[in-house]
Amino acid sequence: MEQQIKELRERAGAAVDGSTNLRELDDVRVKFLGKKGELTALLRGMNQLSAEERPIVGQLVNNARREIEDLIAEKNSQLKASELQAKLASEKIDVTLPGRRIHEGHLHPLTLTLNRVKEIFVSMGYTVEEGPEVETDYYNFEALNLPKDHPARDMQDSFYITEEILLRTQTSPVQARTMERHKNNEPIRMIAPGRVYRRDDYDASHSPMFTQVEGLVIDKGISFADLKGTLEDFSKKIFGEKTKIRLRPSFFPFTEPSAEVDVSCVMCHGEGCKVCQGTGWLEILGAGEVHPDVLKMSGYDPDVVSGFAFGMGIERIAMLTYGLDDMRLLYDNDVRFLKQF
Ligand code: PHE
Repeated sequence: MEQQIKELRERAGAAVDGSTNLRELDDVRVKFLGKKGELTALLRGMNQLSAEERPIVGQLVNNARREIEDLIAEKNSQLKASELQAKLASEKIDVTLPGRRIHEGHLHPLTLTLNRVKEIFVSMGYTVEEGPEVETDYYNFEALNLPKDHPARDMQDSFYITEEILLRTQTSPVQARTMERHKNNEPIRMIAPGRVYRRDDYDASHSPMFTQVEGLVIDKGISFADLKGTLEDFSKKIFGEKTKIRLRPSFFPFTEPSAEVDVSCVMCHGEGCKVCQGTGWLEILGAGEVHPDVLKMSGYDPDVVSGFAFGMGIERIAMLTYGLDDMRLLYDNDVRFLKQF
């Protein structure tokens, strides 16, 4: 019997040792110490022993039970600790992983160009005015000396919404709208940036939607020389000190005299290259002295004040300052392109 207990105690010890997880350890406990376990079975066999032997063997069985219980308890806490370790290891976060970068955006090249143009004129004391993109026929044409059926309307093939309402073809209607807000021949020095629409092709140099900046100055004694000086100053500021300008006679119904204004080519500085098609000059805007009838229609007295006006395309200026050969790049919104500004 003694031998049997010893042997059981050893087997139990080995089984406890060999348990690799808490479940297995519990199976070992049931196998040896449970109600139907091996040690209980041994105790049952004790009624065959003599009265003297019984307490001795009983003592041995109890010792064995305590020893096995201790072993199990010890193994239990070992297994628990290592299971916790394993759990911690498997769930740990790798703090050395690089963070996710926040991609910083920036302004679109057209907006950058427009901001630069605004900055230049604001520094010369101009206000920045706005007008609607959906405009009336009156402001877009009639108030600018283009009555219905005037042939010059044809130059600006238009998107009409009704007979009287269209997408503005130019920013010039803001001239009339701004003049109407002033009384008593009050001086005006304004620019009006914004989108304009013409029924046009969409190719490397045309788009049915583009951006203009209108300029209007009205005061006593404003002459064509003031216009020329202003545009020269602006051109040097935006394209560089060496830039020259040239005025060619032109026609706009709302200015008289009118001119188309060229700047010396920003690429070849007048030598002649592909960009200026060998001429050395690039057209950037239309301008002129405000027509007396335009002043009158919006409540100004042409006998008291005079003025000049100009209108430029911002896409053109962006293309020239950034050296772009296709206007559509500005609208495609391809990040590979936009990233470069
Ligand atoms: N509005 C004219 C255009 O779009 C440009 C212009 C503006 C000309 C002001 C003269 C004066 O073609």
